[in-house]
Amino acid sequence: MTNLAAAFSDALPGISPDVYGAEDFRAISEIAYREAGIVLPEGKAMLVYSRLAPLVRESGCATFGAYVLRIREVGDERQKAICALTTNHTFFYRESHHFDHFRDSLRPHLVRRLEQGGSVRMWSAGCSSGEETWSLAMTLLGPDRKAGQALAKRDVRILASDIATHALNKATAARYRAEDLKPVPDDLRNAWTTSDGETAEIAQDLRALVRFRSLNLLGDWPMQGRFDVIFCRNVMIYFDTPTKERLVARFARMLQPEGTLYIGHSERVTGPALDQLVPMGPTVYRRSAAA
Ligand SMILES: C[S@@+](CC[C@H](N)C(=O)[O-])C[C@H]1O[C@@H](n2cnc3c(N)ncnc32)[C@H](O)[C@@H]1O
Repeated sequence: MTNLAAAFSDALPGISPDVYGAEDFRAISEIAYREAGIVLPEGKAMLVYSRLAPLVRESGCATFGAYVLRIREVGDERQKAICALTTNHTFFYRESHHFDHFRDSLRPHLVRRLEQGGSVRMWSAGCSSGEETWSLAMTLLGPDRKAGQALAKRDVRILASDIATHALNKATAARYRAEDLKPVPDDLRNAWTTSDGETAEIAQDLRALVRFRSLNLLGDWPMQGRFDVIFCRNVMIYFDTPTKERLVARFARMLQPEGTLYIGHSERVTGPALDQLVPMGPTVYRRSAAA
């Protein structure tokens, strides 16, 4: 047994290396990186085991080695494995300073544009189960339900995308535990959700604004037209620097001049995109008008 394989087995007590070994982990990490940009360092060996073991069983494979061969060959199975390897943790009004910034710095201008017959396009990229998207949509429509309903009838659309179909299914259902809505400011929650005390539902006016789509951020983007606002938060933390830099450069090109990019609190824009993106505050960037 090589040192790496021995260390690997030590880290996974009770799991036979014949069922799941260092080579299997390496092969799965390589597939996750190539397909979705997700970096899985060796410390994630147990996580990979626990996320994929149910799929290995379901596929009828006796070992991870056999499963690796299967996902190499069968695209749908590979897609399922990638979904299972994503981390979808999210919550309403996460990093609330972004929604405050959007409300105070962008919303007045975007509302005026809509009222004058213009259009607004926003993208929640890596939306997971939708909490970020609904938080953004509520903030745009504002606390006055009637005024918000009038705005929603204007030319406004929000694209919400993720690679994980199970997360998108929850997002599309637009139904959450009532307690999950607690971080939402009371006036917005009252205007745009209904609740029976246990379950909360997102109002139809809000749902009509959003299109949820399955999209791998590393692949082709079929969207035509640019966005006024892009949220891509806590997604790039799973990527390495070259992947992040390529992605933010693509986001910069997808923004309208003076469009705004919001990224997660532990993320920074680096690389060529900095020629086009001007920092406006922590984790908020504006595409320069000249770009
Ligand atoms: C931790 S969640 C972040 C959700 C939300 N943006 C937030 O900040 O709360 C990260 C999401 O990124 C998605 N993701 C990871 N790699 C992706 C890729 N290559 N393409 C699209 N989405 C990806 C995952 O499926 C997951 O739902």
